[in-house]
Formats: sequence, structure tokens, C-alpha cells
Amino acid sequence: MLRALLPEHLPRLAGQRVLVVGDAMLDRYWFGAVERISPEAPVPVVAVGGSEERLGGAANVARNVVALGGQARLLAVTGVDEAAARIDALLAETHIDAQLLRDPALPTTLKLRVLSRSQQLIRLDFEARPAAAALAQIEAAFADALDWAQVVVLSDYGKGTLGAASTLIERARAAARPVIVDPKGHDYERYRGATLLTPNRGEFATVAGPWAREDELHAKAADWLARLRVERLLVTRSEQGMTLFRAGAPALHDPARAREVFDVSGAGDTVVAALALAFAAELDDAAAVHLANLAAGIVVGKLGTATASVQEVAAELAKEDSACM
Ligand SMILES: Nc1ncnc2c1ncn2[C@@H]1O[C@H](COP(=O)(O)OP(=O)(O)OP(=O)(O)O)[C@@H](O)[C@H]1O
Ligand SMILES: [Mg+2]
Repeated sequence: MLRALLPEHLPRLAGQRVLVVGDAMLDRYWFGAVERISPEAPVPVVAVGGSEERLGGAANVARNVVALGGQARLLAVTGVDEAAARIDALLAETHIDAQLLRDPALPTTLKLRVLSRSQQLIRLDFEARPAAAALAQIEAAFADALDWAQVVVLSDYGKGTLGAASTLIERARAAARPVIVDPKGHDYERYRGATLLTPNRGEFATVAGPWAREDELHAKAADWLARLRVERLLVTRSEQGMTLFRAGAPALHDPARAREVFDVSGAGDTVVAALALAFAAELDDAAAVHLANLAAGIVVGKLGTATASVQEVAAELAKEDSACM
């Protein structure tokens, strides 16, 4: 276990300024009882009795930044529709400084799940790629937002907002801002020159090929760091925790903590949010990784709201300290 995170580091996260650019979405849940099968087709009929909505994708990263005490600005594209209005309202409630560009032809990315007795029956996705004009607006707004930010996060869910990722990375690096990328897809050339990439193990295996042994993973990571001229690569490994690979320095591994897992979705968003704040606060790598791991561990132990607060992280840290005495 990495021990470099100290309680006195946590107040340093407060107020740090993180710019999140990427695919924002709305997660919507409809709940209800199933009491019969439809006469129209062999499918259950759900009598919808309740609903819930959450910020998803890049908007969830911004939400996690705020939960950990930071300030978040979100640069993203939505359509002009009911889902966009809900995203606006949730962002305002969460005190995220939103700069949403509107593409009237775009359906706002929405994932609608229908659940009965905690069982997901179907998921309906509404999405399309934003128009080139909207992406040009992202680039234009980025320059301004960059002045404000200490750290940039590119949250890529493959919906098209980060079509110009390489330009954004170049501009941020020219302005001496670290760039953390949560990647998607096969083409990592687009992320060349980023400060840190955070693929999960499945995503990394997709681009780098599978590994059977730990030393093979280390070799693949070293290869990709050099190939993409990226300073750091954090492979998040679900129940195996996470490993940070660094150009010119040894890898750091932080095991996941044994705990009850309720809902792993969104843990990756918590990881990038925590790392962004750690970078802004200039914590060292070992402290940053442990912070991200603690925060993600808290989030996977929760049903519902997928954020970790500074107080929760402090409580986990105190538990570890007492366990070590
Ligand atoms: N089953 C688990 N047990 C303990 N910790 C976990 C588990 N799953 C995830 N975590 C924590 O969350 C971190 C990120 O999880 P994971 O590697 O699954 O990322 P991800 O696939 O990007 O998540 P997301 O569902 O948000 O896309 C892990 O490094 C670990 O700290
Ligand atoms: Mg992820």
C-alpha cells in the first residue's frame, strides 16, 4: 500500500480549478413493478412508479471534482432538448460552472435504463455525433477556459466531443497545464503528448494487446509511454486496484481495498477527478494514486450517488492509519 497520502494533504485540494472537456451525458433511471406480460409481444410491462437522474460522463467527472472540494468548469456539447435542460439544472445544483455549446441537430446523450426490483430490463441510448461547427466552438472556448484552469481533464466516452483532442492537448501543454485523459477507443495517437492517460485494464488490453504476466504489462506500458510521449499511464484494474507507470521512474502499484462493492459504474470518473485535484495541489505521484484509489473505493461501495467527499476520504485514511498502528 502506498502511504504517501497524509491527512494534511486533503485541505490542499480545496478550491483547485479543474477544466473538464468531453462527452457529457444524462443517466436516467425509470423504476416500476412488472405484473404482467404484454399482449402485444413477449415482453414485460413495467408500471413506471419512479425515476432518477444523474449527471454522466464528463459531467460526472466535474461533479466528482466538486465533491472533493475543487472547482470545476465543464466544456461540452448538448442538443436543445429536454435532456439538455435537465443537465443544465443538475449542473447548476451541483455548482459546476458549465459552458455548454448547443447543437440543435444533436440529441443530447441520454442513457435511459428501465429497472424492476433492481434488475435492469433494458437500456435505451440516445446519441449522435456533434456537428463540426460545435467542435469548432469547443476549440474556441477552450482557449479562454484554459486561462482559468490549473489542470485539464479530457473525458472521452467516444461520443465525438473530443474530435480535436490532439489540438486541445497541444494548446494546454503549450500553456503549461497538465492534461489528464480518460481514453476511449483504439486510436491513442490522438492523445499524444498528454501528461497522464487513465485506461482501465480492458481498454489498455484493447490497444496494447493482452498480457498474462505482470512483467508483460510493465513492458507494454513502457512501450506506450515512449510511443505516445506521455509522462504517465495509470491502468485502473478494478478489484486489483491501480498501477501508475512513469517515463523514467519505477511503477507504483496501489491494491484495491477489500470492501463490499455495490456499484462500480463511474469509478473511473472519480479516479480522474481525484488525480486532477492532486495534480493541481502538487501532491506527489504516490499520494495522488492513493487518493484516487481511496476515492474510487468509496464510490464503488455506494449505491446511487457516485461521488466521494473529502470527509469520506479523510475517514478512510484515518481507518488505514489506525489499522497500521
Ligand atoms: N470490484 C472492485 N473492488 C474494489 N475496488 C474497485 C472495484 N472496481 C473498481 N474499483 C476501484 O475503482 C477504480 C477504477 O475502476 P475500474 O478499473 O473498473 O475503472 P473503469 O472501468 O474506468 O470504471 P468505469 O465503470 O467508471 O468506466 C479501481 O482502480 C479501484 O480503485
Ligand atoms: Mg472508465
